[in-house]
Amino acid sequence: MRELAAAGLAAALAVPAAAQDGESDRRAADLPVRLPETGERSPAAVPRSSAGRGAEIAPQAGRYGLGRAAEPAEIAALDIDVMPDGAGAPEGRGSYDEGQAVYAARCATCHGADLQGGANFGAPRLIGGRGTLDGETPVRTVESYWPHASTLFDYIHRAMPFSAPGSLTDDEVYAVTAYILGRAGIVAEGATLSADRFEAIEMPNEDGFTGDPRPDAE
Ligand code: HEC
Repeated sequence: MRELAAAGLAAALAVPAAAQDGESDRRAADLPVRLPETGERSPAAVPRSSAGRGAEIAPQAGRYGLGRAAEPAEIAALDIDVMPDGAGAPEGRGSYDEGQAVYAARCATCHGADLQGGANFGAPRLIGGRGTLDGETPVRTVESYWPHASTLFDYIHRAMPFSAPGSLTDDEVYAVTAYILGRAGIVAEGATLSADRFEAIEMPNEDGFTGDPRPDAE
């Protein structure tokens, strides 16, 4: 046992010395060919670094030897963006009344029962502030600022509740979106929302944005 420990120590000391000599093909210290106690053959030394194997894994060969092609189901799970005109929104529908219940159960602790925001995690107020954006104290909310109703769906769908994003069903997201828009006076209280309704909803600040003039931003 002592012999093995001593051999290990000597080998460990030898490694930095070799590295100092500028040896590029760094390898783990060689084990003794036979382990002294059992006489068993030791495994071949394993290269510690891929330095020196560049030709085998070269990026110019187009392969790093990592990863695999994503499955269609994995792409579909991430491909959830909803465009301003509602394209990409999932099937489903939800009403203001259903949304009121979702809001009370899943949103009110942070955003407040009156949708005016709260101290929990600094959750912002969601409604109010209409017409204040060019004043001394602009109040930026979904009601006063957001240009598209579909973006409200998209944001809640991907990011809320803050503590458990993705935990609402699509119908619940439609419902709570209808509830927030209803409380903001943007849709009628009692309205039902589905993907085909987005384009008809007029947001108070939808004309408050200008296009991006850069040629590559369409
Ligand atoms: C645990 C606290 C919490 C809960 C619960 C929660 N939110 Fe939020 N919410 C936040 C925080 C914090 C932000 C700000 C996030 C940021 O700016 O990155 C936010 C932002 C938002 C915004 C964007 C507001 C804006 O103008 O930028 C919307 C809309 C929203 N939440 C809706 C909801 C809805 C709907 C629910 C319930 C389904 C919900 N939230 C539940 C904490 C919460």
